[in-house]
This record gives sequence, structure tokens and C-alpha cells, in this order.
Amino acid sequence: MLSKKIEKALNDQIASENYASHYYLSMASWCDKNGLHGCAGFLYSHADQERTHMMKLFHYVNDAGAHARVTAFKESPETFKSLLDVFKLVLKNERLVSAQINRLVDICLSESDYSTFNFLQWYVAEQHEEELQFTRILDLIKITGLEGRGLFLVDKEIGAMPKKTN
Ligand SMILES: [Fe+2]
Ligand SMILES: [Fe+2]
Repeated sequence: MLSKKIEKALNDQIASENYASHYYLSMASWCDKNGLHGCAGFLYSHADQERTHMMKLFHYVNDAGAHARVTAFKESPETFKSLLDVFKLVLKNERLVSAQINRLVDICLSESDYSTFNFLQWYVAEQHEEELQFTRILDLIKITGLEGRGLFLVDKEIGAMPKKTN
């Protein structure tokens, strides 16, 4: 049984994973339109991954006897200043998601909901991994630069990164 407070916090997390999925899909589309097909492929796959995160939460909430909800969320921007800007925005969003997950874990502990606490450990580890991945991408962009062949190399490198399915 989930408390109302935890149900609400999990539904907020569902909305935020859903937003991340749409946000990254919009970035993928911008990359595609700008000839950055490696980055587009990477971000399409990342958008799918965020949807998987959302669905895991969705099923958890319903299986626990509460009600998973589909709520409206803000629209994603359609254009971006540069590839550097895209990945800076991804990292910024991931840091927000990490903070949100941490708050959720805090609530579970304060309510002694160890089942949800245990379920959320996967998200804690996932956020660590994602923040690291996007920090590395920004490092790559910093080292390679985006001038001349730099943009081509960065796109190729990011396109070759392994794509996770969850
Ligand atoms: Fe996620
Ligand atoms: Fe994420």
C-alpha cells in the first residue's frame, strides 16, 4: 500500500521521466535536421530509455494498488543554439531528475516505506550513470571542439556510443 504522499511523489516522477523522454526526442529531431545523425541516433535511443523509466514507475504504482497518472507537461523547445547547448541542457535536466529521486528516497525513509525505497535504488544508480555519461560527453566536446572537423568527429563518436535498452 502506498501513502498518498508517496503516490503523489511517484506520479511527479512519472511526469518528469515522460518530460525527459519528449525533451530528448525534440533534441534528437533537431540534431537530425542539422545533419548530426550520430547524435540524433544516440538521443532517439535515450528518449526511448526515459520512456522505459517512466513505464517502470507506472507499473510499480499500479501494482502497488495506487493510481499511475498521465498528466500534461510543458512543451519541449524545438530548436537549440548548438550541440554544446543540447548536451549542457541534458546534463542540467539529469541533475534535476537526480535531485527529485533523492527527495523521493527521503520521503520513503521518513515514512518507512522500504519497498518503494528498494525499488528506487535502481533509479539512484541509473542517475549516477547518466550524470557521468553526459559529463563525459561534455568533456569530449570540450577536448575536440566543434569547429571544422571537430563537429564531425564528435557526432561520429557519440553515434558509436553503446545504446542501453533500459
Ligand atoms: Fe530517467
Ligand atoms: Fe535520464
